[in-house]
Amino acid sequence: MHTIDGKPVCKFEQLTLDDIDPGPVVIRTAFSAITYKDAMAARGFGKNVRTDRPCVTGVDLSGVVVGSADERFREGEQVVVTNYQLGTLHDGAYADYARVPAEWVVPLPKGLSLYEAMGLGTSGLTAALAVDRFEKAGLKPGDGPVAVTGASGGVGSLAIDMLAGKGYEVVAISGKAEQTDYLKAIGAARVIARDDFMKDKAPLVSAPPFAGALDNVGGAMLDRLAANLMPNGKVAVAGMVGVELTTTVLPLVLRSIDILGINVSRQLKMPERRRLWERMATDLKPRHFDRICRPIAFTELDNTMDSFFKVSSVGRVVVEVGSKAPG
Ligand SMILES: NC(=O)c1ccc[n+]([C@@H]2O[C@H](COP(=O)([O-])OP(=O)(O)OC[C@H]3O[C@@H](n4cnc5c(N)ncnc54)[C@H](OP(=O)(O)O)[C@@H]3O)[C@@H](O)[C@H]2O)c1
Repeated sequence: MHTIDGKPVCKFEQLTLDDIDPGPVVIRTAFSAITYKDAMAARGFGKNVRTDRPCVTGVDLSGVVVGSADERFREGEQVVVTNYQLGTLHDGAYADYARVPAEWVVPLPKGLSLYEAMGLGTSGLTAALAVDRFEKAGLKPGDGPVAVTGASGGVGSLAIDMLAGKGYEVVAISGKAEQTDYLKAIGAARVIARDDFMKDKAPLVSAPPFAGALDNVGGAMLDRLAANLMPNGKVAVAGMVGVELTTTVLPLVLRSIDILGINVSRQLKMPERRRLWERMATDLKPRHFDRICRPIAFTELDNTMDSFFKVSSVGRVVVEVGSKAPG
């Protein structure tokens, strides 16, 4: 991504290894993905992308170590890198090779392929952290239904699959009526149309339906979720589609609601990150990768970005980067 006259310009170009940012671990990229953050970086929205010189974008990668000056990693090891500064301030995943600090690298857990790892990526980590935090806060499957907003998106889809796999009754809240069958196929017990859910403006609904909620939207949606939570309900807040929040403290106080902030950026320390990756390869491993993930060729990358702004994207888009991608 180049910034020319203040505007982002994305193009494929031939680079050598020495052209990309240095780092002790050299990875041959197999797969990447597209997240909302990638779409923002590619189209120049937000302020977190390097603009003083070109940047290879792509915030998620899986691949194979081809050289390491750090003793923690060896040639041939399969690894995953998500977030930190990858693809924003440090050359990222949309290239055959990346050179990164060892501190960013997670060994691919046994039980996941390189493709599945990018079916998860940042979105999977977000969903897994939310499930983990629900459990730590004491939310149990028998407590009642758990709502997931932004349900058809990457985080939403993976969270539905993970929560249903753990035995929770999942209620998907989605703006895409045409995706009802998809949402049920990946684990939603019921689907509520987003517009219907947003209609009721009561600060506290009588007979609140949800024991928990994962909010991938934010803003007014979070206000509505809080009003719909049972006493001692938990709401995990991950989404930033709507940033400003006007609400009332009533449900939080009167119903003792727990708010669980979810952040998988560099704030998520490596031991926790590794533990969540292990969980995503075992008890939180999605059962519907085939339905949730859509592979695209590297050449389709630029054309696919805008689907994230049109809100037409469903599930996870996995990008085949390496021409001879292993795994
Ligand atoms: N906290 C973290 O560490 C973290 C990490 C990753 C992502 N995120 C954030 O989590 C959110 C979801 O990420 P994602 O990767 O799942 O994104 P995504 O694949 O683009 O999905 C977002 C979903 O939100 C819903 N949505 C979009 N625009 C909306 C609007 N204007 N009003 C209401 N709903 C809307 C849509 O679902 P429906 O059509 O089904 O309603 C959409 O598919 C994003 O805001 C992202 O920035 C946070």
